[in-house]
Amino acid sequence: MIELKNVSFEYENRIVFENLNLLVSKGEKIGIVGESGCGKSTLLKLIAGLYKPSSGTLTVDGETEPELISRKVSVVMQTSMLLPLTIYENITMGHKYPLERVEEVCRMANLSDWVATLPEGLDTYLGDRADGLSGGQAQRISIARALCKEADILLMDEPTSALDRENAESILEALERSTKGKTVVHVTHRPEHLRGYDRVYRMEAGVLRSFADAQDDK
Ligand SMILES: Nc1ncnc2c1ncn2[C@@H]1O[C@H](COP(=O)(O)OP(=O)(O)OP(=O)(O)O)[C@@H](O)[C@H]1O
Ligand SMILES: [Mg+2]
Repeated sequence: MIELKNVSFEYENRIVFENLNLLVSKGEKIGIVGESGCGKSTLLKLIAGLYKPSSGTLTVDGETEPELISRKVSVVMQTSMLLPLTIYENITMGHKYPLERVEEVCRMANLSDWVATLPEGLDTYLGDRADGLSGGQAQRISIARALCKEADILLMDEPTSALDRENAESILEALERSTKGKTVVHVTHRPEHLRGYDRVYRMEAGVLRSFADAQDDK
């Protein structure tokens, strides 16, 4: 479902990785850990169709064009990308989902209680750069957006980094329930959030190694 063949990527001549290979089959759940700056978010953005490989081939659900790839994946990025629209519009992103579905994903992302305290609820306007939201509120709206899209592939980059432990755990449980049978790539600094995953990699010097092997070397 996701295949990288000899994929290299550089930002304006700064090489992040070279000849990276990765195969993720339909329904597999893959975790990626690694030191800050090693290239995890860059890899996820490539798989999300936000960037194009400098060389090599990336195929996601049969697509190789970034624009077509981006339609096939749900993404929770490391930095929440909220728009100056209402909470509802930030979750549905122009699609006409039934209200019940939006309410359901709000429950899964632990947003419902907070939204219920807002005089305008889901119709609350967020303003430029979502001023006035806490980092965790913004992150939970991003999670609700990704869950609403219902793509077969879910890509998550530190999806609960701004949340307290209780919120993080209950959202991760909801994510686990709702992603049964889906393909997941989850980047995190917390390997304990990857329990039950099919494979966990450690990214190191532009190379993906099995996390267990990387631990054995220490
Ligand atoms: N837009 C950009 N332009 C130029 N260089 C960038 C850009 N984004 C990231 N980089 C560089 O690419 C490298 C990989 O960055 P990336 O964000 O992928 O790391 P990361 O593994 O996600 O780190 P973290 O754990 O801190 O989120 C870093 O050295 C970073 O400085
Ligand atoms: Mg990152």
